Order: sequence, then C-alpha cells, then structure tokens
Amino acid sequence: MLIIKNSKVDDVKNSEITSEAEYLNRRKFLGKSAVFAASTLVGGSLVLKEQVLNAQTLSTQSARVPAWLGSKVAGSRTELSAGLADATPRNDAEQLTPEEYATAYNNFYEFGTDKEDPARLAGKLTTDPWSVKISGEVAKPGEYTLEDILKPHDFEERIYRLRCVEAWSMVIPWVGFSLEKLLKRFGPTGNAKYVQFITLVRPNEMPGQNSLFSTIKWPYREALRLDEAYHPLAMLAVGMYGKPLPGQNGAPLRLIVPWKYGFKSIKSIVEIRFTEKQPKTSWQSIAAGEYGFYANVNPYVDHPRWSQATERRLPGSLFSSNRMDTRMFNGYGEQVASLYSGMDLKRYY
Ligand code: MTE
Repeated sequence: MLIIKNSKVDDVKNSEITSEAEYLNRRKFLGKSAVFAASTLVGGSLVLKEQVLNAQTLSTQSARVPAWLGSKVAGSRTELSAGLADATPRNDAEQLTPEEYATAYNNFYEFGTDKEDPARLAGKLTTDPWSVKISGEVAKPGEYTLEDILKPHDFEERIYRLRCVEAWSMVIPWVGFSLEKLLKRFGPTGNAKYVQFITLVRPNEMPGQNSLFSTIKWPYREALRLDEAYHPLAMLAVGMYGKPLPGQNGAPLRLIVPWKYGFKSIKSIVEIRFTEKQPKTSWQSIAAGEYGFYANVNPYVDHPRWSQATERRLPGSLFSSNRMDTRMFNGYGEQVASLYSGMDLKRYY
C-alpha cells in the first residue's frame, strides 16, 4: 500500500485546516473516488472513522511546533491532485492503524524503553526553535533553521506500512516530502556515498538519555547508502494523520524508509551528514550480529533470537493477534529490489 497525494502548501490558509472528522470523511471520499485504492482505503477509513468518533477521547496530542508548520501540514489535506499507486496489494484489506494507537505505542529510547514512555514524556520536548546541521561532503554545509529546511518543499500524504524489527507492524498516513529533493539542495560532492542522520541530545527533556541502563550511546544515529536515500519511497515526515508529528513520533522531522525495519526511520533529526565511508549506526554498535546496516525487511533472514517470517499487525484484539506473513522489502519489492541486485541479503542484512 502506497498512497501519495500532492499539495501546494503555500496556498493554504489557516481557515482551511479541517477537523479530525472532516479529515476522515475526506479519506472515505478519496477511497471511493480512487478506484484502485478502493478496497483498502474505503474499508480502512470507514473503520477508522467509527473507532475515532466512538473513542471517549480524541487524540489531542499535538507537537509543540511553530504555527506556520501546523498550517503547512494541514494543508497537505487539500488534494490538488491525487496520485495513487498500490505496491503489491495483499489479499486481506489493510486498514490504517488508529491514530490513538500509533501515537501511544512507540519506540523512542530517548524517552525510555517502554512502549508507553514516549507518549507520556515527549510532551516536554521543545521543538521550536529547531535547526538541522548539514555537514560532510556537501557544497553547502551549514546550520539551517527548520523553516529553511522545509520552505521549498510541497508536502504530501503517503500511507506506508511500518514494520518493526520486533515483528509488529502498523499502517500510517505520514505527511512529508521527498528525501532526495532535500538532500540534493545541499550539493553532495562526488565523494558522498552515504548519508547519516543524527537525533537530538537533550537529556533534560529526554529522560532516557540519563538512564544508567541505556544501551545506546547517544546520539541515536542512522544512515543510508546515497542511492537508497534517493529512492522515491524514502521521505522525511513532519506530520501524520494530517497533523504535525507528535513528539513521541519524532517531531519535528523524522525519516521514513518503508522497506526497512522501523529502527532505520530515525526521529527528531538535528544533523544530516554526507560521508564517503559507511557510517556505523546505533543498533549496529550495540549488536552488529543482530542489527545490520541495511535492515531491509526480509522474512527469509531471521533475527538470531526470533523469526521474521510473520508479523503482528497492530492493534490486535483479545481474540486475534492479527498475525500475517511478512513480505520481502515489506511489500515494496517491486520498487526497491533493484537497489540490491547482486547482493547477498543474508550477508548484508
Ligand atoms: N529514532 C530515535 N531517535 N530513537 C529511537 O529509539 N526507534 C526506532 C525508530 N526511530 C527510535 C527512532 C524504532 S525501533 C522504530 S520501530 C520506530 O522509530 C518507531 O516509530 P513510531 O514510534 O513512530 O511507530
């Protein structure tokens, strides 16, 4: 499942920001009008609407982001054009993960290792002002404000599966823009072969960074080969469910690489560094035998301590764990397999 809607964000006024119910209604409408997304989207948005409207508390989490960013994110919901493409559809209908679930069950070790810690503690995170350092093998290095980073880009909504290495998965509507377009703005030199991403270190707002039991040596780091980063599916997200990203999901700027295990999708980015040599990632540094650099979703290569052949699509219920087969490259093989042609994916896991 891969759904992309484009929008021209500069035209959007605050008055155009829609409510949650309108958002879900529009999704329902989109599902009906977009013929080849019909089975999943119509089902997904109808169910989601019911769940959200019936919920006692609608999700009120909003990241502390500048007002101008909020209006840009909401703007992505005004569909000027709808470009829809479905990557190798499953037989079973895939539904959006309810927002209140995707924003409450998180991995963000900077706030603690329990799934509930990030939602409980990330409200403290200050994301305004925010800047991103561009460094390494580039023509235009520097410290850029978040506004500088985002200004030239149109936002779009993309619905992607997120498959965690822990063998659970969700389906999330992100709002963001092409990673390739951002990276190319800074003029990578001919030496740039990889791009590294680094998360904020701020222990007074991120209590997990003070923990004596932390296995991660902060900051959290991730990296991609440059050709992977230039793949059209790779994106930077600034929102989800038509709203700015909540702190627990990586406000104000995070990476999304849907064909790789979720730990590659690094949150709250403060530095992007172009390198000639392959950078070490946080999880490789902790356990290189368990977490590789590539981390492509692969049901044929198990984690040393558990199988990767299946996944639990969250949320499950009392009666069903919602277990399904995991697919190669998380179902995006048609688009991304060529990046790895000739590579032994058992060796380069
Ligand atoms: N980024 C940072 N900085 N710190 C983290 O602990 N966890 C990763 C990834 N990005 C993590 C991170 C893991 S393991 C997963 S599965 C996804 O974030 C989860 O994203 P979500 O909480 O938005 O679902």
